[in-house]
Amino acid sequence: MTVDPNAATQGFPTPSPAHGRPHPARYLVPALVAAAVALALGAYGKVHDPAGTAFNLAGFSSTGAVKSWLATAAFAFALVQVVSALMVYGRLPGPGWSGALHRWSGRAAFLVSVPVAVHCLYALGYQTYETRVLWHSLLGCFFFGAFSAKMLLLRSERLPSWLLPIVGGLVFAVFTIVWLTSALWFFRTFGVTT
Ligand code: HEM
Repeated sequence: MTVDPNAATQGFPTPSPAHGRPHPARYLVPALVAAAVALALGAYGKVHDPAGTAFNLAGFSSTGAVKSWLATAAFAFALVQVVSALMVYGRLPGPGWSGALHRWSGRAAFLVSVPVAVHCLYALGYQTYETRVLWHSLLGCFFFGAFSAKMLLLRSERLPSWLLPIVGGLVFAVFTIVWLTSALWFFRTFGVTT
């Protein structure tokens, strides 16, 4: 895989040198943390009584509308994540600040998605009454597990160069399904309103 020679200076891990294989703990710890985060969220969503709390924001007609727009903003930042990652890896032409763009769009996507997920978990809980809702709840929990694993892998050195793009791609794919099964469904059902 071609990696932008600036990747290291942009704070991104570079491919491992040929010598030495990473210790299995480098994979095991992120995988265990991912499983623990996803299971803890799922268990919390399942066992507590959904509070059903609704909130209103000036200019929006319902809690669902606020959440759907926030989730859509997070999805837009996630798209910037994919494009900027391709630039960092030299697959697309990009400016010298692609690394910074990747980091900041990632932070923004995470910040925007957290309040939405907190409301889902606290007020709606882990639900399975429809296939769509089942996948949304399941992958919503899985998303935060996979995201935690990616953050831990970023700090790890000597990893195979393919690992981070695979995990990053997985996080993006999962978020896409979470968005399709919630915000897109909401807009198709109730119309694209604020
Ligand atoms: C990245 C994380 C997540 C995002 C961006 C997200 C986004 C949304 C949005 C936009 C809606 C539609 C608005 C609404 O009905 O309130 C929704 C609904 C819902 N969410 Fe989430 N959610 C996330 C994670 C979760 C998690 C972790 C759970 C539970 C474990 C969950 C459970 C639900 C449920 C049960 C609904 C109602 C589904 C329906 O009847 O249509 N969500 N979510």
